[in-house]
Amino acid sequence: MNSNSTSQASPNQSLANDQRPTTDLMIQTLEWTDRGVRFIDQTKLPTEETYVNCTTYQEVADVIRNMVVRGAPAIGVAAAMGIALGVKNSKTESVGQLKNEFDEICDLIGKTRPTAVNLFWAIRRMQQKFESLRVRSVAQIKQALVEEAQRMHVEDIAINQEMGRNGAALMPASGGVLTHCNAGALATAGYGTALGVIRAAVEQGKKIHVYADETRPFLQGSRLTAWELVKDGIPTTIISDNMSGAIMRQGKIGAVIVGADRIAANGDVANKIGTYTVAVLAKEHGIPFYVAAPISTVDLETPDGSKIPIEQRNPTEVTHIAGRAITPVGVQVENPAFDVTPAKLVTAIVTERGIARAPYEQSLAALVRGVEPLGDH
Ligand code: MRU
Repeated sequence: MNSNSTSQASPNQSLANDQRPTTDLMIQTLEWTDRGVRFIDQTKLPTEETYVNCTTYQEVADVIRNMVVRGAPAIGVAAAMGIALGVKNSKTESVGQLKNEFDEICDLIGKTRPTAVNLFWAIRRMQQKFESLRVRSVAQIKQALVEEAQRMHVEDIAINQEMGRNGAALMPASGGVLTHCNAGALATAGYGTALGVIRAAVEQGKKIHVYADETRPFLQGSRLTAWELVKDGIPTTIISDNMSGAIMRQGKIGAVIVGADRIAANGDVANKIGTYTVAVLAKEHGIPFYVAAPISTVDLETPDGSKIPIEQRNPTEVTHIAGRAITPVGVQVENPAFDVTPAKLVTAIVTERGIARAPYEQSLAALVRGVEPLGDH
């Protein structure tokens, strides 16, 4: 794995012109290059803008596990690219052996992070692609899997832009919008989910001021969301996580919008730890609480939030800041990376196919099946 790669190769060089993203993206979260998969190192932002180049699928698994790349949709695209890279690197000339290696690759990638369902969605999509190619040659299978991963990258950007268009109307014409964690370009292939909605609203002329929760312990809000929004020139104020109640009470917040790592069939939402607290506070203050996520984040096989696996991360994320201990040795620590916000606290869920509202069992199932959006459109 190389740091500080300066490769500028196009991520979509083997895709046809009409499949390439239509916008120039300011932030390249990840990209497929001739030399491997290149990631902006999110553990180093905002103080260093450096890149990591992975040349093996094991390295891609490491960057997902270590959160060099993070955010549910970005994890999904990274998983697909990691699988494509592993298959491309195979030395075998037998399709049967390639399938064995493919299964091993999927197995390792599938063990990196448990909560974001986009990871498993991406693995399943690559598996289905492989199955559809069984009568092809090894070279053809490799090429098709690389193209499938690149296609997922392109599609994710388009999905976020569509989600932005769908959700922008929900944003206030002016004033404060609170977000938690980072659900922006860095959490996706580009544009973002919750931040995509904010970006679209700003593009429509809305005068939004973003309040970004710092998001302890990994600081996705103060490091990543603030970095993105400052780059975009969108007015942004960072608050520590324990300030959101007071800021809401002062009347500064007109809406809350967050992303999601997994949405259960009943509308319960797993997202970054602390999201539940924000949702309860929003309810208390009569502020709408919106979730923006692609359909690939909706998991109809998980009936409710209690069945969503919650990742427990290393306690040092809590006990240390920038490598320096801030707690006494021997203290006990909990570090769940996510919590579950019950559907009853969620005003609406914005997807690329439309907006779901309660009862979510029906509205989400309809959107997943591709039925016309309900309400709002
Ligand atoms: O642990 P992370 O940084 O991967 O968690 C990310 C989040 O919880 C995001 O809010 C979520 O993935 C939505 S990203 C579009």
